[in-house]
Amino acid sequence: MKNLIEKYDRPGPRYTSFPALPFWKNDLSTEKWLEHIELSLEQQGHADLYIHIPFCQKLCWYCGCNRIITKNTERSQEYIQSLINEWKFYTQNIDNIKLKSIHFGGGTPTFLPAEQLRELLSIFKPHLHDDFIGSIEIDPRTVNKEQIEVLREFGFHRASLGIQDFDSDVQTSINRIQSYELVEGVVKMLRESGFDSINFDLIYGLPKQSLQSVQRTIELVSRLSPDLLAFYSYAHLPDRIPNQKLIDESFLPTGNLKRELYETGKKTLFECGYYEVGMDHFAKKTNYLYQAFDKKKLHRSFMGYTDAKSSTLIGLGATSISNTDYSFRQNSKDVKDYTEQMSKVRLPENQTSHELNPADQIINEVIQNLMCNLQADISKVESLEIWKDIQLGLDEFSKDGLTNLENNVLHITEMGRVFLRNICMIFDPYLGAKGAMRFSQTV
Ligand SMILES: C[S@@+](CC[C@H](N)C(=O)[O-])C[C@H]1O[C@@H](n2cnc3c(N)ncnc32)[C@H](O)[C@@H]1O
Ligand code: SF4
Repeated sequence: MKNLIEKYDRPGPRYTSFPALPFWKNDLSTEKWLEHIELSLEQQGHADLYIHIPFCQKLCWYCGCNRIITKNTERSQEYIQSLINEWKFYTQNIDNIKLKSIHFGGGTPTFLPAEQLRELLSIFKPHLHDDFIGSIEIDPRTVNKEQIEVLREFGFHRASLGIQDFDSDVQTSINRIQSYELVEGVVKMLRESGFDSINFDLIYGLPKQSLQSVQRTIELVSRLSPDLLAFYSYAHLPDRIPNQKLIDESFLPTGNLKRELYETGKKTLFECGYYEVGMDHFAKKTNYLYQAFDKKKLHRSFMGYTDAKSSTLIGLGATSISNTDYSFRQNSKDVKDYTEQMSKVRLPENQTSHELNPADQIINEVIQNLMCNLQADISKVESLEIWKDIQLGLDEFSKDGLTNLENNVLHITEMGRVFLRNICMIFDPYLGAKGAMRFSQTV
């Protein structure tokens, strides 16, 4: 395994989209975008909604998310008016949008005080599907009972808590102090109010982590019995994410030690009753995500793994990404720009976007299936120009025991799971000789 890690650990996309965002062609007009949504809605009947809240009260030094650090809730009051305007634009241009789900992400959605949450959620009420799913990312340090009551009032019942690590030395070295007792209190409050699915985000590869500290964190985590867990690889890109320069690199576990942290975490999670689902995610066998994985029906979107395909995802807010089966589109990353644009109650032209051509659609399906279900029918790929290169790559993976090809279905082996991103990369024609350099390490 050590040799394989040395061979394959290199920068590469995480494939939350294919093509990865840096390769998008920015070729989609607003009119075309609206046509794609209408076409998708005709086919699927409903949309999913993502809402990005870009504010946090305090900076975590490792953070790679798009957020603004402030304690001023007047800023979020102004921002929710832009979200309301953006939604108004969609409802003025597209009839009868029914929402199957709303996911609140960030930043920190619970930065919004209860009354702002209520004001924002009220506008979606007439559009909610009968069995609508509401989920939210919660920072345990920034949440109160009133906010949870408002979320329940609007039918939210899934929560994801940012935990990262329980070790106090690790917490100090990433500027994020939150005790076990604080998290325990929040989990109790959520369960008592009726939240039936709780996810914890953990990260491995953080400064000062050791095999013992990771094991201890996971033992503490399992006492709180979350239904799901994300165990992310720390993406350290200080040249692109300046706040990461605050992290002392001499304490970062790298290479094989980083992989061992993951393997230790995975083993401890397994002993606590959690099974690996897709990449970096774990679930109890009774959870909806494990059930979907078991039936090879797992899907993935910009929001993470899901049990239902999202053919129409409308993303509201700065940075938010939307998609249909035919295209992707991202809002301005800059909150000031976004706010100005939305004051006109209109989506601007020339946004970051990509219209999928027929080859993109074939490759997208293969990569999504590999990332979610660890297998993919690759017969359609044979007609593409890059097939010869793909074959060479597959021979190498097969020799290394990472994949098997049977009747045109490519299967990822247990060992191959470690190199899932590398395996997807051979199908990616956008990665030129240096195309992958801008991404985080694959292993
Ligand atoms: C938007 S935050 C979650 C909600 C809330 N802001 C919080 O931190 O509690 C999304 C998650 O991204 C993960 N994350 C952020 N920066 C990361 C990085 N550089 N590498 C890996 N994971 C990261 C963390 O696990 C974090 O919980
Ligand atoms: S990890 Fe969460 S709370 Fe911390 S800065 Fe990033 S988005 Fe904000």
